Amino acid sequence: MKQEITVSFDRFDHWNELVQSDQELVERAYKVGKTAYAPYSKFHVGASVLLSNGQIVTGSNQENIAYPSGLCAERVALFCTGANFPGEQIETLCVVAEGDLLPIDKILSPCGACRQVMLETEVRQKKSYRIILVSQNGVTIIFNSAVDLLPLAFGLTD
Ligand code: THU
Repeated sequence: MKQEITVSFDRFDHWNELVQSDQELVERAYKVGKTAYAPYSKFHVGASVLLSNGQIVTGSNQENIAYPSGLCAERVALFCTGANFPGEQIETLCVVAEGDLLPIDKILSPCGACRQVMLETEVRQKKSYRIILVSQNGVTIIFNSAVDLLPLAFGLTD
């Protein structure tokens, strides 16, 4: 028997069509992306996390000459949130990137390890959060849950 998994998301031609609070998250992600330490990939990624108290936590990718020691922007931002705001709910995560690694019309797609962390963060807080992904030419897609980015995930029983 063939079965399907369907994932739905909202798409916008440019992030300047988003509501103001989401635009602010994109701007903050681009701003923190400038702090990326990415001498090896030259790919600068920024992530912003909106908390239910209105605060925004940010992170950028941090590389290392021992390559696997580096960390993606999403995990920097999510782990920073867990460490500094352990009781706060995450409402939205936004990820943007600048660099030649990705064609400008391709949406930045989080790596598998980040998706696993995004999912467990959601499971931990017992509430889904939105994920905003942006291409370098501005096209934006929004998912309503980390589950959408990791179907059949390890660690989920249902
Ligand atoms: N990177 C991120 O920070 N987030 C992603 O979603 C994809 C990749 C980083 C890791 C590495 O520093 C560089 O981008 C190239 O892979």
